[in-house]
Amino acid sequence: MNDLSNPPAVPSVILRSDYRAPDWLVPEIALDFALSLDATRVRADLTVARNPAGQAGAPLRLNGDGIAARTVLVDGKSHNDWEMDGHDLVIALPADAHVVTIETALNPVANTQLSGLYASSGMLCTQCEAEGFRRITFFPDRPDVLSVYTVRMSGSAADFPVLLSNGNPVAQGTGPGGTHWAQWFDPWPKPSYLFALVAGDLVATRDSFTTRSGRKVDLAIYVRAGDESRTGHAMRSLIASMAWDEQVYGREYDLDLFNIVAVSDFNAGAMENKGLNVFNTRYILADPETATDGDYDAVEGVVAHEYFHNWSGNRVTCRDWFQLSLKEGFTVLRDQQFSADRGSAPVKRIEDVRVLRAAQFPEDSGPLAHPIRPDSYQEISNFYTATVYNKGAEVIRMMTVLAGPERFRAGTDLYFDRHDGEAATCEDFVRAIEDGTGLDLAQFRRWYEQAGTPRVDVALAHASDTVTLTLRQTVPSTPGQPDKLPMVIPLRTALFDRATGTHGGEHLLVLTETEQSFTFTGFAQAPVLSINRGFSAPVAIANPTTNDDLVFLAAHDDDPFARYEAMQQLVVQHLVAAVKGELTEADRTAGRAAIVGAFHAVLTDLALDDLMRGELVILPGEGYLAEQIAQVDPVAIRNEREALKGWLGAALRDEWIALHDRTSAVPFSLDAEARGARKLKTQALVYLAPADPAEAAARAKAQYDAADNMTDRQGALMVLCGLDRPERGAALADFQTRFAGNMLVIDKWFSLQAGSLHRDVIGQVRALANHADFTLTNPNRVRSLYMAFAANLGAFHAADGSGYRIIGDLIATLDPINGSIAARFVPSLGRWRKIEPARAALMRAELERIAALPGLSRDVREQVSKSLEG
Ligand code: TRP
Ligand code: ZN
Repeated sequence: MNDLSNPPAVPSVILRSDYRAPDWLVPEIALDFALSLDATRVRADLTVARNPAGQAGAPLRLNGDGIAARTVLVDGKSHNDWEMDGHDLVIALPADAHVVTIETALNPVANTQLSGLYASSGMLCTQCEAEGFRRITFFPDRPDVLSVYTVRMSGSAADFPVLLSNGNPVAQGTGPGGTHWAQWFDPWPKPSYLFALVAGDLVATRDSFTTRSGRKVDLAIYVRAGDESRTGHAMRSLIASMAWDEQVYGREYDLDLFNIVAVSDFNAGAMENKGLNVFNTRYILADPETATDGDYDAVEGVVAHEYFHNWSGNRVTCRDWFQLSLKEGFTVLRDQQFSADRGSAPVKRIEDVRVLRAAQFPEDSGPLAHPIRPDSYQEISNFYTATVYNKGAEVIRMMTVLAGPERFRAGTDLYFDRHDGEAATCEDFVRAIEDGTGLDLAQFRRWYEQAGTPRVDVALAHASDTVTLTLRQTVPSTPGQPDKLPMVIPLRTALFDRATGTHGGEHLLVLTETEQSFTFTGFAQAPVLSINRGFSAPVAIANPTTNDDLVFLAAHDDDPFARYEAMQQLVVQHLVAAVKGELTEADRTAGRAAIVGAFHAVLTDLALDDLMRGELVILPGEGYLAEQIAQVDPVAIRNEREALKGWLGAALRDEWIALHDRTSAVPFSLDAEARGARKLKTQALVYLAPADPAEAAARAKAQYDAADNMTDRQGALMVLCGLDRPERGAALADFQTRFAGNMLVIDKWFSLQAGSLHRDVIGQVRALANHADFTLTNPNRVRSLYMAFAANLGAFHAADGSGYRIIGDLIATLDPINGSIAARFVPSLGRWRKIEPARAALMRAELERIAALPGLSRDVREQVSKSLEG
């Protein structure tokens, strides 16, 4: 047999360039589960075949993680030629095809990592992406090994009346001692990360969808008894997604059954297991009493996202985990396009860009920066990032800008056609788009290779009747990538005539060199530049613009995103200069006057709908502002931003009050008009709060008391949470009692306090961590308290470092329970290089304290060590 006596250590860094085809394939697998909450037994029969493309003579290497093989049989006979190599089971096999049988035993209730098979409030469920299947049985747990699955499961009929897996149910029956069993068969070969099993006491809401070729698909959403009245929105979203994917991408569903299960303990948002999506309850359950308008949108978007994975992810899957953006970037783009079609496209675009700037830009400028297709990783769970997902979507969106929708569709048709049933790469995707659209994407591929947000410096010169626009791009250095090459940057651009407020048509400028000039003739006067309209490229535009021109664009630009952008830039320029101490008193007065003028125009522009108006009056976020300043004092950002809010609140007091009155009179409905009213209703209070706390508190209390929906109730409570007023405690207590037992709503109760503007958030967070309803074993609850806190600049960055200590302690305590969730909190401390020196030293010290702890998870170890080196 092969020499396994001195096994090589598992490499701690996995490199993309090390990819090799698998030595063995597993065309079929049969799984048999004897289910119990604390002692499940699993028998796996793997039909294995040597891969002609693999290494000749190689043994069969099966990954494992925290499991032991109780039995190993080859072709039904006991077999001794196997060894453990670290966590892997390595079997020497004589021929080219065998059946390997392995038995393992699992304790699902003890599985607090929520990866593999685990228990969640009495039910059993699985989460196998990325590498959870190896916690269930030994298997070549890599996405380029595709198998046809037969799954049999048996267990107590009382504890587990519902037994689900991928594909179609083929048989069921009862067994001895009150047990029953079910067998499922999934005809579509799939990688192990798409396997799923659910067993529990669940109730289904059912509907159906008939595909365009006439296949009737039975749809079911399984939830715990009592929650079934809150599945309607998810079901409607699913049906709309199925229709949309047929119409827009020509993609039809391919099984007779589509099941969704909602679980309350879940590491991520949801999972696209073939025919059996598993969701975090927060992305399924919605009714007006308990879910905000934002929650409704999130349910719709995530249901669509997981459904769309059936093609972009499942029918065409990833060759290896470096290709993750192949499915995630593309699927995020698809869900964004779907949501844009379902509601207001401009508002959706603004929201998506806000998320990108809040979550991805900081990642791209910090120690954990990586390309959308990373080159290396230690723990793949750490790469489910805003870069892979959201920047990945932006990169494909640029292809749609360059190709136009029809040609892009030809590209995706070719991609799905060419790679159906395969495990593909990002390169395969780009080549299919090239071949289908006729574009040359040679240089464009750098978007897959280079990390960092490109910055484009803009200069506009005007002489006689000619305008010269000079664009200069810089791609910043990122860890491991000191030198960068120029990117392909498509910029939708318009030049506005100041006198008429119009432009003579949009240009698509494609910047490919470090510096490039574009000329335009026929301009008697210098025009006003509108650039990167629709956010056509995920870059930072540096284009110092006068307040007058920004006010002009905010009022006149016919591209709604550009209007929003002008408002943002007006405020960003002002606040950044204020925080840096660069504003003279005259500048401050002039800046405030321009901002108040622009706000006034937005509040009184009758042509705007309220949803869009609501976007235009949102101030740039604290995190995005912090990104603009080197070695920032975060508390100064908080203070300047609040001061501006107070100024706007006072200067436009009558308008805010009139707005609050007008919107409060609009009755509840889920249509765009009523939703727009709700958005502005709370915005009005947000501005009044710093200007006139007594008036704001009284109105917030009235809004809370009158609320017949969660959007109004949560908005009012959010405003009250930031104020030191008697109405605060009363409303918090009411909310807690009113929604006791509803986990998702109690999450909001934690978040609102941890994210508030109150002066004592630190004390409150410490108390909440000891609250009877707090637990470290439920990821939603952990995120509700601590993610909200870590994003709360004014509190997290307390000058004495107490906020950093809270997060450091959390990481240390949570790591042994759930390492992948613990690792998600490291980036907040990892941004220390961007913070002023005194706080930076405290942040660094906290990271060093964590780094010194024994037995850290691979997840936390990778994030902490990169944050210290980077
Ligand atoms: N693939 C899932 C998605 O749709 C993400 C996901 C679900 C996930 N569960 C996970 C990622 C667990 C990492 C770990 O985006
Ligand atoms: Zn996804």
